[in-house]
Amino acid sequence: MAPRGGFSSRLGFIAAAAGSAVGLGNIWGFPYEVGEGGGAAFVVIYLFFCFILCFPVMATEIAIGRKTQLNPVGAFNALGFKKWNWLGKMGILAGVLILSFYNIIAGWAFGYIFEMITGNFGIADGFSEYIKNVVKVGAYGALFMATTAFVVSKGISGGIEKAAKILMPTLIIMMLIIVGYSLTLPNAVDGLKFYLVPDFSKLSGSVIYNAMGQAFFSLSLGMGALITYGSYVSKKENIVSAAAWVTLADVGIALIAGLMIFPLIGFMSGGTMEGAGRGPGLIFVTLPQIFGNIGGTLGIIAGTVFFVLLCFAALTSTVSLLEVPVSYVVDEMKIKRKKAVWLVAGVIFLVGIPSLLGNGYSEFFSTSFTTYKAGGTDTDFLSLVAAIANDTLLPLGGCLISFFAAYIWKKHNLDEELAEGAPGYKGSFVQKYLNFAVSYLAPIVLGALFVLTV
Ligand code: PFF
Repeated sequence: MAPRGGFSSRLGFIAAAAGSAVGLGNIWGFPYEVGEGGGAAFVVIYLFFCFILCFPVMATEIAIGRKTQLNPVGAFNALGFKKWNWLGKMGILAGVLILSFYNIIAGWAFGYIFEMITGNFGIADGFSEYIKNVVKVGAYGALFMATTAFVVSKGISGGIEKAAKILMPTLIIMMLIIVGYSLTLPNAVDGLKFYLVPDFSKLSGSVIYNAMGQAFFSLSLGMGALITYGSYVSKKENIVSAAAWVTLADVGIALIAGLMIFPLIGFMSGGTMEGAGRGPGLIFVTLPQIFGNIGGTLGIIAGTVFFVLLCFAALTSTVSLLEVPVSYVVDEMKIKRKKAVWLVAGVIFLVGIPSLLGNGYSEFFSTSFTTYKAGGTDTDFLSLVAAIANDTLLPLGGCLISFFAAYIWKKHNLDEELAEGAPGYKGSFVQKYLNFAVSYLAPIVLGALFVLTV
C-alpha cells in the first residue's frame, strides 16, 4: 500500500469521502433541482434514492476499491474481469465530463468571493452579464483548475484532509446561522411549505429521473470516485459505517442548503415562490440577496466567508473528480503522477470551454442543444453535458457496478470485503438490506433506465 499512500486515519477517510460528496452538488445543485422539480415531492424522491439505492452502491464502490487497491479500470482487471473494465472507462469519461462543467460553476463561485469583498450584492441582478464575461469567469475557472491540480499533485493524504476537518464543520455552522436568519424574514413560511410539504401531483417521470441523478451526483457515485478513494482505505476500516456517515453528512448538508434558500425565495417573491425554478443560476442570484439584506460590514464578511467556504467544499470535490482520471493514467499508462495531473487537468479545462461559452457569450453554445429535461431544442451546452453525465452516466454506472458486484464478482466476495473491519456485519439487518439493494434493486433500476432511455 505504501507507494500509493493512504489515509492517515479513519476520520481521514470519512472526511475525504465526505469532502468529495459535499460540494456544489449540495449547495448549488440541490436547491436548483428542487426548485425546478416543484419542491418537496422532489425532496422525498431524492431522499428515497439516497438511502435505499445510493448508500449500498457507495459501500460497494468502496469495497471494490479497497479489495483491489486500484483505479476504476485496474480494479476490474485485478478482480479477474477484464471484460468489465469498460465500466471503469465509462466512469472516467463521466468524471472528465463532470469536472469540465463543475469547474466552470466553481469558477463562478470563486469570482463571487471578490464580488462579496467589494460589497457588490447587486451582482444578483447582473448575474447573466457576469457569466457572459468569459474572459473573467474563464480566468477564475482556470485558477480553480490549477488549484485542484496543485492539490492532487501533492498526493492524497496532504493538507486537504486536515483542512476538511476544520472547514466542513465551519461551513455547516455558517449555513445554520443563515438558515436561522432566513427563517426570520417575512413570507419565509411560504418557502418552507414549497420545500417541505410535498405536492405529489408535481411528480413526473422526469422529476424522478432528475432526483435519482442528483442523488448519485451529490454522493459522488457511479463513476468510480469511491473505488479510487476506497483503494487508499485500510483493512481495519468499517466500510459500511463510513458509507453511512458520508451519506448522512451529504444529505444533511443538502437539506440545510434548501432551508437556507427557499425561505429567502419566499421572502423575495412575496410568497409566490416565483423564481424558484430559475435553474443553475439560483444560488448565485439568491445568496447575494441574503447578504445584501444583512447589509453593511456584516453582510460583506458573511458573504465573503460563505463563498470562501463554498469554494473549499467545491475544491474537495474537484480533487476527487480529477483523482479518478489521474489515478487511471498513472496506474495504467505509467505516466509520472505530476505530469499526469497537469496534463489531465489541462485537457479537462479545454473540454469545458464550450460550457463556458454557452452561458450567453456564444449563441451557438448557449441555445443549440436539447435534453429530455428542458424538452425544447434551445438548451445550452453545459446543461447538455450535465444531463448526460449526472443524470445518465452516473445512475447507469452505479447500477452496473452493483450488478457487477452481485453477479459477476459475486455477492459473497462483496460480503467478505464489507465484513472486514466490521465486526457484527455478518448476519445483521444491514447486510440483508445491502444485499437486497445491490442484487435486486439496482438491476431493476438499471432495467428501468434502459427502457426509459432507449
Ligand atoms: N458530489 C460532488 C458534489 O455534490 O458537488 C460532485 C461529484 C464529485 C460527483 C465527485 C462525482 C464525483 F465523483
